[in-house]
Amino acid sequence: MLRKLIIDCDPGHDDALAILLAAKYFDVLGITTVHGNQTVEKTTRNALRILEFSGMTHIPVARGSEVPLIQPLVVHPFGHGESGLDGPDLPDPVTSVDPRHGVDFLIDTLMAHEDVTLAPVGPLTNVGAALRKEPRIRAHIREISLMGGATAVGNTAPVSELNVECDPEAAHIVFTSGVPIKMVGLNLTRQAEATPERCERFRALGTRVGQIVFEIVSWYSGRVKLAYGLPGASLHDACAIAWLIDPSLIEAVTCHVGVELHGQYTRGMTVCDLRHITRPGAPIQGFGGVVVSEPANAEIGMKLDVERFFDLLVNTIAMYP
Ligand code: BDR
Ligand code: CA
Repeated sequence: MLRKLIIDCDPGHDDALAILLAAKYFDVLGITTVHGNQTVEKTTRNALRILEFSGMTHIPVARGSEVPLIQPLVVHPFGHGESGLDGPDLPDPVTSVDPRHGVDFLIDTLMAHEDVTLAPVGPLTNVGAALRKEPRIRAHIREISLMGGATAVGNTAPVSELNVECDPEAAHIVFTSGVPIKMVGLNLTRQAEATPERCERFRALGTRVGQIVFEIVSWYSGRVKLAYGLPGASLHDACAIAWLIDPSLIEAVTCHVGVELHGQYTRGMTVCDLRHITRPGAPIQGFGGVVVSEPANAEIGMKLDVERFFDLLVNTIAMYP
C-alpha cells in the first residue's frame, strides 16, 4: 500500500516538480494551496493546471489561506512571474477546486485517515492554522517533510528563507507542534541546481510532459541567473519529496530549530542549533551563561546526493506521457 501524503504548496515552478514527483510514489490524498510565490488565487489555478497537464486530476485541490496568520501579505513575483508559473504556455484550468477551505480540507482529511505524511512546500499558514483549529490532527500525522528555512544564509532576507519569512508565526506553530519534522532548507536545496545540462535531460525524454518540465525549469533557472548569476535554479520543493521517497539521498542532523519572531533583521530565520548548545541537561551554555533547554525537534537535511536526485526526477518525469 502506498504511503498517504498531502502536499501543501504555492506553485511555483519547483512546487510543480514536487507534485509530479509525489504523484508517482504516494497516495496523494490532496493538495492544499497557500499564498507565497503568488496570491492564493494564482497558486490554486497553477495547482489545477499542473494536475491537468500531467493527467492527475483525480487528486483534489483545496484553496487555502489568502494571508499569513498575523503579518500582512507579501507575494514574491520575481522568482515565479506574474502567473506564479510563468514559462510554459498552459491553458486555463477546466477542473474545479474542492468546496472546502484548505485548512478544513486538511483537518477533515487527516481526521479521516491514520499515518498521513504532510509535505508543506510553501508558507506554513494552512498547516499552522489547522494545528491550532484542531489539535487532534497531530495524532494522525506520521511526519512533516517541509521545505523552509536555512541553517545560515537566506534568500528573501539575509538569514530568512521565503516560506518561513512569509509567515513566521505559522512556522513557529509547526516547529513547536511535537510532530516529527524533516526540514529541507536553502543550505540543502541550493545543491539541487538545475544547470542547463540537467534541464536538457527533461527535454531529451521526448515526451509532452518532459517538454513542459523542461520549460518550467528553464524559465525558473533564467530568473535565478538574472537575480544571482547562478547557472541554474534550485529545485527546492522537490527535495522535500525526494527525501521521503529515498532517505539515502540526504544526509541529515537532528537538532533544535527555533523560528525567530522578533529580530529586526532576523525575523523569519530558522535558528538551527547544529552544535546542540540548547539540549536539555547541557552544562552552562555560551559565554553569556544563558541556559536554554530545548529538545531536538527536527531532522535537517545537510547534504544531497545531487546526481541521484536528478536521476530520480528524470526517471519519474519519464513515467508521464
Ligand atoms: C521556496 O520559496 C519558493 O520560491 C519556492 O517554491 C520554495 O518553496 C524557496 O525559498
Ligand atoms: Ca514553494
